[in-house]
Amino acid sequence: MVSYKELGLVNTKELFKKAVAGGYAIPAFNFNNMEQMQAIIQACVETKSPVILQVSSGARKYANQTLLRYMAQGAVEYAKELGYPIPIVLHLDHGDTFELCKSCIETGFSSVMIDGSHHPYEENVALTKKVVEFAHKNDVTVEGELGTLAGVEDDVKSDKHVFTQPSEVEDFVKRTGVDSLAIAIGTSHGAFKFKKGTDPKIRLDILAEIEKKIPGFPIVLHGSSSVPQNLVKIINETGGKMADAIGIPEEQLRSAAKSAVCKINIDSDGRLAMTAAIRKIFKESPGEFDPRKYLGPARDSLKELYKHKVVNVLGSNNKA
Ligand code: 13P
Repeated sequence: MVSYKELGLVNTKELFKKAVAGGYAIPAFNFNNMEQMQAIIQACVETKSPVILQVSSGARKYANQTLLRYMAQGAVEYAKELGYPIPIVLHLDHGDTFELCKSCIETGFSSVMIDGSHHPYEENVALTKKVVEFAHKNDVTVEGELGTLAGVEDDVKSDKHVFTQPSEVEDFVKRTGVDSLAIAIGTSHGAFKFKKGTDPKIRLDILAEIEKKIPGFPIVLHGSSSVPQNLVKIINETGGKMADAIGIPEEQLRSAAKSAVCKINIDSDGRLAMTAAIRKIFKESPGEFDPRKYLGPARDSLKELYKHKVVNVLGSNNKA
């Protein structure tokens, strides 16, 4: 058993308490490799923001669980070396079984998500409660989910939205003992969140209803990339094919972050930033074959994107 505490990581408890009280959200950025990790830590140290390093089960397979643990420990030391030791959480994104959550907890994760949202309600309650009981024995925090997001993220796929029912949240939170709750209010995974010509709106009215039922309880928004159109344009102009990619308007996320939404998940925007930077270099310098010459600029572009998110969308700057 490797405790996250030995790695210098923290769980989400204090971070969420302060974020809910302070009207901002903690960034949860997905990572799979060194450049993404460097960009996240540089951006969050420079803006003095706490951060959740988020790993899907696909990312864990891709990067290797042992390497990930040392990378998270490395992230803690790297922040210190950069001159500002920010609080860092290592979080499992969309855990789908008790066994996966247990294995992550035993290998240094400080927070896990158990996503039982595709199960019938009572099964979701039972599975989530089981994970919470094990996690809390190890002082690890747990995110549950009610409702289903549309879209694709690694192995997590759904064709349609099932909005969270405000009438269920109080019972779910009480019976499971979860520390935070992911809800479905119209955000979705991936870069194609809305049909062209439709109004890209999330259901802030459902969020308000949920907040009335569980006042001050930490709420999580998945699928919160905004799909910056300047990045989509670069990708399309350099041989990519991403017509009609549309995301969540940043103003809507900003207003959600001012409420009890205290964790906002962003993955696709980072993928777009890296892809646009790499495509541009390949187009402009076709003879380039040193990975540092394209991964380095991709990392810089990612860092700028994350700084923008922290300062202009989440409001978590100067909260570390
Ligand atoms: P995006 O695809 O909108 O970035 O969402 C990522 C996410 O929710 C990770 O869990």
